[in-house]
Amino acid sequence: MVATHDPSELDPIVARYPDRRREHLIPLLQEVQDHCGYLSHDAMITVASALGLPVSKVYGVATFYNQFRFEPRGKVHCQVCRGTACHVKGSAHVLDTLERSLGVSAGHTGKDGVYSVEVVACMGACGLAPVVTINDTVHALVTPDGAKRLARVAAKQEAHRDDD
Ligand code: FES
Repeated sequence: MVATHDPSELDPIVARYPDRRREHLIPLLQEVQDHCGYLSHDAMITVASALGLPVSKVYGVATFYNQFRFEPRGKVHCQVCRGTACHVKGSAHVLDTLERSLGVSAGHTGKDGVYSVEVVACMGACGLAPVVTINDTVHALVTPDGAKRLARVAAKQEAHRDDD
């Protein structure tokens, strides 16, 4: 995963969608995000031009879905499941606590690049609700304070890794 991209880096991805069909927009955005880690403005322009759509249309669709990010992930990326089972088990409180304690609202990355917070739909682990992932590691039965602690511990580990 890379934080920025050279537009030509997306050529092999775009080449998989040669027929410029509108229904390819979501899969193409997903592939570009998987590759780049987020959807930069340049990437949005590349996608729009590949499918012959106005850039405003591509933004309109991408911003409708909360699976898409428009900023690079933080060193510590926190995903809070907001599916039904997690909601019933208090994920709104988990999310609220994380946002306030980390100073980052959902869908964004802090200015210092340490934390990013994302809301996701059901992760398929409803029996373990509420579920949070920190840098793609799944944590089950997470309390609001527990989520905060997990994020802080991950940030310390990332800082040590940077020192090495
Ligand atoms: S609702 Fe959260 S894992 Fe299913």
